Amino acid sequence: EKLTIGLIPADGIGKEVIPPAAEVMDAVLPGKFEFITLPAGFELFQQTGVALPDETVETLRTKCQGALFGAVSSPSHKVAGYSSPIVALRKKLQTYANIRPVSSPAVRNAKNQTVPVDMLIIRENTECLYIKKERSETDENGQKVCYAERKISEFASKRIGRVAFDMAVARGKLREQQKQQGINVAWTGKPKVTIVHKSNVLSVTDGLFRESVLAVKNEKPEYADVDVEEQLVDSMVYRMFREPEKFDVVVAPNMYGDIISDGAAALVGSLGLVPSTNFGDVVVIGEPVHGSAPDIAGKGIANPIASIRSAAMLLENLGFTAEAAKIYNAVDKLLSEGKTLTPDLGGNATTKDVTAAIISQL
Ligand code: NAI
Ligand code: MG
Repeated sequence: EKLTIGLIPADGIGKEVIPPAAEVMDAVLPGKFEFITLPAGFELFQQTGVALPDETVETLRTKCQGALFGAVSSPSHKVAGYSSPIVALRKKLQTYANIRPVSSPAVRNAKNQTVPVDMLIIRENTECLYIKKERSETDENGQKVCYAERKISEFASKRIGRVAFDMAVARGKLREQQKQQGINVAWTGKPKVTIVHKSNVLSVTDGLFRESVLAVKNEKPEYADVDVEEQLVDSMVYRMFREPEKFDVVVAPNMYGDIISDGAAALVGSLGLVPSTNFGDVVVIGEPVHGSAPDIAGKGIANPIASIRSAAMLLENLGFTAEAAKIYNAVDKLLSEGKTLTPDLGGNATTKDVTAAIISQL
């Protein structure tokens, strides 16, 4: 029986990296997937006045077992009638967790040691400042004052906390198995969840996030074995660059999660490497962490690895663990050989070259 996968390339390099990800899925499981391309994006908005057609959302909701999203070119200035389709999509389909694994076999830390990094950033995906309730007022001097509302709920914070603890436990189990098979694992300690917040300043909102996630630890006996630490978001960034080897699962409200995951991408070499899934109860959407990269769009040199790894994460979610592992291994091999790399990693290969090299490894 075929599975239906929605492809939403959207804008810029999204159009260049999503087809390779679909090709790789087809290469590991030939004929298993029916891909349907669905419209969304800023370019679509400019043509039609609609950034996210209802039909795209309904097709994802009712016909698709999974999806891959590229990137949208959201402008930095306000455009009347436009709002980011990926933010809307995450909300409409209640993909409440954005899971962002950041790993590398060798990164230089602040002590100039070469260390492995194996972090899993879990970003809350439905609230925080991204509820986009902003308003503008005029003060007594006739100057503008703008406000943004920030929503943090106990429900969503606990929900994301559970994802973090469940993932920490699952990763711990997987590492035990790997150790028994003689495989080197990057993280050798007990599973750990790092809660990122700024509750020293935002004691109400971030205070609630912190308390809610901490409370989850007592919900299940299996969480007892998970270490918990807290990190203020600014020192999180500092520590992440100084000692990236010290993090396992990291859980954060929406905006902090967005920011630290781009930072973490720099740590492992390129935004072009870091995948994610938007995960919820309806459908899983794989999505590279990067944006539409207008500076390189149309040149055929975008790194497809973030999207290909996102496809592998999607396969894992659909139960195809072995096929996902094949893809991860093929990508790791390509990276460690260092021969076929796109310019963001210092090479001169094209998107097509990298895709072909990965498929030939499979
Ligand atoms: P960006 O992630 O598009 O690019 C940042 C830098 O990383 C650029 O120099 C770019 O060339 C490079 N880069 C990103 N992905 C790459 C890849 N696969 N291969 C090689 N190099 C890569 O972020 P930026 O420039 O801040 O935003 C550009 C547009 O993307 C904006 O309109 C922004 O709103 C949108 N964006 C959309 C996202 C989404 O759809 N989820 C996420 C982030 C940004
Ligand atoms: Mg981002």
